[in-house]
Amino acid sequence: MLSVKHLLGIKELTVKDIEQIFKTADNFKQVLQRPIKKVPTLRDTTVANIFFENSTRTRLSFELAEKRLGADVVNFSASGSSVSKGETLIDTVNNILAMKVDMVVMRHAASGAPWFLANHIDASIVNAGDGTNEHPTQALLDAYSMREKLGSLKGKRITIIGDIMHSRVALSNIFCLNKLGGEVTVAGPPTLIPKHIESLGVRVEYNVKKALEWCDVANVLRIQLERQHKPLFSTLREYSIYYGVNRDMIDSLKKDIIIMHPGPINRGVELNSDVADSRQSIILDQVENGVAIRMAVIYLLSGKREVE
Ligand code: CP
Repeated sequence: MLSVKHLLGIKELTVKDIEQIFKTADNFKQVLQRPIKKVPTLRDTTVANIFFENSTRTRLSFELAEKRLGADVVNFSASGSSVSKGETLIDTVNNILAMKVDMVVMRHAASGAPWFLANHIDASIVNAGDGTNEHPTQALLDAYSMREKLGSLKGKRITIIGDIMHSRVALSNIFCLNKLGGEVTVAGPPTLIPKHIESLGVRVEYNVKKALEWCDVANVLRIQLERQHKPLFSTLREYSIYYGVNRDMIDSLKKDIIIMHPGPINRGVELNSDVADSRQSIILDQVENGVAIRMAVIYLLSGKREVE
């Protein structure tokens, strides 16, 4: 069992919770290697995936995780729903819950939306990304993937590069890596790094090459143009030249580092294809591990006892 009823953010998790999620994910990873990649553990549980923002990886990954646990799954997206007729978030969710749903996985553009929901409904809630705040399952699968390659993250150096200002992945990664004993640097243009971010226990580096020389792992983030309401750099080309991660930069390092990206990638902007698709990249391992991590989170929140 976890110390929390909902997975709203990494901030609320204990180190023990994170370790338990990883241990449970190890078991589910083995299940996922079998010819029949399913367990009947949640056959009496119904999960609603409600997505008020676009998603490819997170949504498919949660749906697969739930189905592989034997749960019944319903999917809701805001586009094409009665949200466009003015229905509120609480009304939408209460109507879904009236259909006897046990757990809600929600992505929402408003930071804090899952906390608001948690104060108004009884079902367990999993935050699948809220605005610019947190994306806890992404941080868990990122840390799990790093651990798979490096062992314990104590003292390991992780650079998070790019649009830190608008990134829920960055904030959840910072909380998670700090809890697991990693050292974190955030790197990118000054306009995309929040003021006072050092108070979260991270270093700041504006020179991406220096940040890469320092680290064991580079987690490169997408430029989130949809959240930038005024220009924060001149052009994508300029961004790519000064802050993009390219092959020459990686080849000039005197060591091998691990390359990560949560996706979707703006190829040729924050990350060039010859790095994204290189042997150092674990981007598709992150996606694979996402299913096991999400199975673990849903299983542990459900309060069920055994992995069959
Ligand atoms: N990493 C991630 O959240 O991707 P999606 O937006 O496609 O779910």
